[in-house]
Amino acid sequence: MYEHKGKLFALGFLGVAAVLVYVWVPRIHPIEEGGEADVYSAEDDLAESNSNAECNLLDKPVEEVPITECSKRCSKMKQDCKQFFVDVDKPWPPSSYGDSSRSESCKICQTQGGEERFATLYNIKYRIPEYTAAAITRKPKDDGGGNRPGGNRITLWRRVQLGLCSETFRKKYQSCSPLCEVPISDDKMRVKECRDCQALSEDLDGCKVLEKKIEIADRGHLDPSEINNQDKAAMEATFSMINMAPQAPDFNNGAWNTLERKIMQKAGDIFNNKNNVLYIITGTNMTKEDKWVKGRVLFPSYYWKAVCYTGKDGAGTGAFGVGVYGLNDNDTKKKDDLEVVSLSKLEESLYGT
Ligand SMILES: *[C@@H]1O[C@H](CO)[C@@H](O)[C@H](O)[C@H]1NC(C)=O
Ligand SMILES: *[C@@H]1O[C@H](CO)[C@@H](O)[C@H](O)[C@H]1NC(C)=O
Repeated sequence: MYEHKGKLFALGFLGVAAVLVYVWVPRIHPIEEGGEADVYSAEDDLAESNSNAECNLLDKPVEEVPITECSKRCSKMKQDCKQFFVDVDKPWPPSSYGDSSRSESCKICQTQGGEERFATLYNIKYRIPEYTAAAITRKPKDDGGGNRPGGNRITLWRRVQLGLCSETFRKKYQSCSPLCEVPISDDKMRVKECRDCQALSEDLDGCKVLEKKIEIADRGHLDPSEINNQDKAAMEATFSMINMAPQAPDFNNGAWNTLERKIMQKAGDIFNNKNNVLYIITGTNMTKEDKWVKGRVLFPSYYWKAVCYTGKDGAGTGAFGVGVYGLNDNDTKKKDDLEVVSLSKLEESLYGT
């Protein structure tokens, strides 16, 4: 039925549909300077972290990542999660981080509350997700209230992906998997035994402290939290460092936020019908010049999204696919807020031709 073509969704007809979609994601402009960030934009981490920690961006990583060991840990983790991809026979689009990084790309099927929530291709060398794939089946509430975690957000971010921690640590916490909330009394051990192969919440501490006018980086969600606002466990699952990459605060609260709101509205329209699924893959894209937060976590140059709807009841009516990407930087007045492109153009820009 579907023509196998692209890498991200493997659906032939979507190239055509992308033209139509251009209409619902018009050229997106960030909120005006001095304008108020609205209810959806609270992807920040105010009051969530140790604001005295020092945050800096370095040109190079400060420590060698034990790739072989990390990749061994990865291979023992749950990696199916096919349902988050349009083509279940061809799940997990390849890495766009270059050939040499293949062993660095770790497939993680994220579970929370006993259910699979999203699929992340996590790069253990750069300690950020290359992409997260999600299949949205529920209408979000558009007042933004929902189930957004309040004061416990930092507790959620502090959870570790147990499978990427050392064997000693995995043994000690084996019943606490896959996203493990470690008691504060074991904090030192958590940091020591889990820091090699994943970013920890502490890596972003001090990177946004408004009182001190420090706005280096937010903990940016890939699978957005807000679109899951009618399902507490699904939303909490998005507050995982496996689903996080450093994001320039102005970009996060500006153009990116506007885009995510539009996708939520679109989801609201689609889910007036039953059995419909909106597939969203959100990714990062690096360049050789990218900096490292505290020398540990890559600050990626770009964020991108591929959105795909296979039509009412998956049968093609109203189907569309669209790609969007933008520079992950502070300068929201620059021309390049976000580019809206066909899926094939997006793939070309990620993988080359
Ligand atoms: C963004 O701007 C802030 C404040 O001017 C600066 O400290 C930070 O390094 C900038 N971040 C990036 C990623 O350019
Ligand atoms: C990916 O990065 C390259 C530069 O390395 C850039 O030319 C391209 O537009 C980016 N594509 C996306 C989708 O971010």
